[in-house]
Amino acid sequence: MKGIPADMQSVQLVTVAMPNRVAFGEYLAAVDCHPLFLHGDAFTVLDELPVESIDCAMTSPPYWGQRSYAGGGIGLEANYEDYIAHLLVIFEKVQRVLKPTGSFWLNIGDTYLKKNLLGLPWRVALAMTDQQGWILRNNIVWNKVKGGPDNANDKLRNVHEMVFHFVKTPKGYFYDVDAARNTPRPTKVVNGAVVSATGVSGIRYRRQIELSTALTGDERKQAIAALDAILCDISDGRLADFRMIIRGQQRATHSDSERVSGRARELREKGFYFLKYHPNGSKLSDVWDILPEDTQKRKGHFAAYPEDLCKIPILTTCPEDGAVLDPFCGTGTTNFVAFGLGRKSVGIDMSEQYIKAATDRCRLLL
Ligand SMILES: C[S@@+](CC[C@H](N)C(=O)[O-])C[C@H]1O[C@@H](n2cnc3c(N)ncnc32)[C@H](O)[C@@H]1O
Repeated sequence: MKGIPADMQSVQLVTVAMPNRVAFGEYLAAVDCHPLFLHGDAFTVLDELPVESIDCAMTSPPYWGQRSYAGGGIGLEANYEDYIAHLLVIFEKVQRVLKPTGSFWLNIGDTYLKKNLLGLPWRVALAMTDQQGWILRNNIVWNKVKGGPDNANDKLRNVHEMVFHFVKTPKGYFYDVDAARNTPRPTKVVNGAVVSATGVSGIRYRRQIELSTALTGDERKQAIAALDAILCDISDGRLADFRMIIRGQQRATHSDSERVSGRARELREKGFYFLKYHPNGSKLSDVWDILPEDTQKRKGHFAAYPEDLCKIPILTTCPEDGAVLDPFCGTGTTNFVAFGLGRKSVGIDMSEQYIKAATDRCRLLL
């Protein structure tokens, strides 16, 4: 079994027939977006998918040494080096099926060994960039807000996990930055004046300009005119919010060097500049507060990730007519969300029980 580390060859691989390739081809050609679930070992099933056929992969592999899922599989290795090696074999196969414009989102948990936090997520991520040429665009901290019980009295509670965003090429990968933004807070009218979402009415800036000794008379006139124009944008909804930086007044948020900062040059030449907030809301940050999946309600699987974790990855990096892949789909959360967002998706899992659970979960989707 070429490509599979020696000790992994002893893991019983589920035999998958070639029809997976056919099923996948027919699925992509069809109109129906209901997920396609393929039962089998990702080591072999991924080889059956055509090269560069997937737009966005998102997955959460089993933790190392923590759980035994039905059917065995990744995570049962005797040491973490083998765990990483096995994951890397799978991720190379993911790389093969991903389009050059594609993205791979990897949620991976850490583990302690003899009280030592292993840093497994970063070990895996760095091995992927260094050995396989993946480009790491973000490391997202998934703040689970409330962690599980932690009785250790010699360390803090662990409440976060990592989600890495990888691409294959540094430029030209699909990314819809507007597909996921923070909802902008609305402007208000206070005493007849328009006030921005964060309470900026322009009155303070106007006084600062009028009283400024650091601006010339002409600069003061231009600054007032520019301020009026931007307040118009706020009141007409073209802008959600702004800050004004006036020479000699506000602390500048840029480098003083005009060589590196256009804003420094603007401040010298005009005496002011604006920081404008996007009308559709600010860009999301790399810290996501998402409560963990409530496992109380779900039987038989203890590592489902929350649906919300998949939304931003799919919205931003899978085109509307694209296809999503989860090579360790478990109960099919990635696929469930992909369907909800109108995307096709393929889920692979070696456990028949989880494939059935995932299929049942998505069957009733309209
Ligand atoms: C952490 S769970 C995924 C949970 C999933 N994100 C969800 O929301 O339900 C990891 C899954 O990987 C599967 N698995 C482990 N080794 C595998 C392999 N070699 N090929 C395919 N699936 C595998 C397990 O059966 C398990 O369901």
